Amino acid sequence: MPEKIRIHIINGPNLNMLGKREPDIYGTFTLTDLEKTIRETFPGTEIAFFQSNHEGEIIDYLQSLWGQEHTGLIINAGAFSHYSYAIHDALKMLAFPKTEVHLSNIYQREAFRAHSVLSSVCDGVIAGLGINGYLLGVSDLIMKLKNG
Ligand code: DQA
Repeated sequence: MPEKIRIHIINGPNLNMLGKREPDIYGTFTLTDLEKTIRETFPGTEIAFFQSNHEGEIIDYLQSLWGQEHTGLIINAGAFSHYSYAIHDALKMLAFPKTEVHLSNIYQREAFRAHSVLSSVCDGVIAGLGINGYLLGVSDLIMKLKNG
């Protein structure tokens, strides 16, 4: 029997405030709504969600995934995406497929958001598609992991 696929979805600082935070940019859904939509879209896939406002906690979580197989990762590191070399280094250590997701189109906003220090250590980047970005990211990871 093929090994079960596991997807980890990490959301960084302020993403716990979805629904309240700048709804014109991020939408009116909450983080719980986001997680529920993802789970309901992929009922047969094991999905683990992690959110933290703390850089070190995100790094600890990434380190806990070291050496895992049949695993894929989605990360929306929020503002850490733009300057955390520590999260960059932690992602670089992980050999399985990793996708960076942003709800908003970071290229259309303030100049500081247009660069992510995480993109070079992720296999793909999705920005500006809201919740659909997560769904497309998970779907791509499942295809990648199923094809070996
Ligand atoms: C974000 C974009 C970041 O610039 C911002 O700091 C966030 C959310 C997004 O999902 O669009 O917190 O990552």
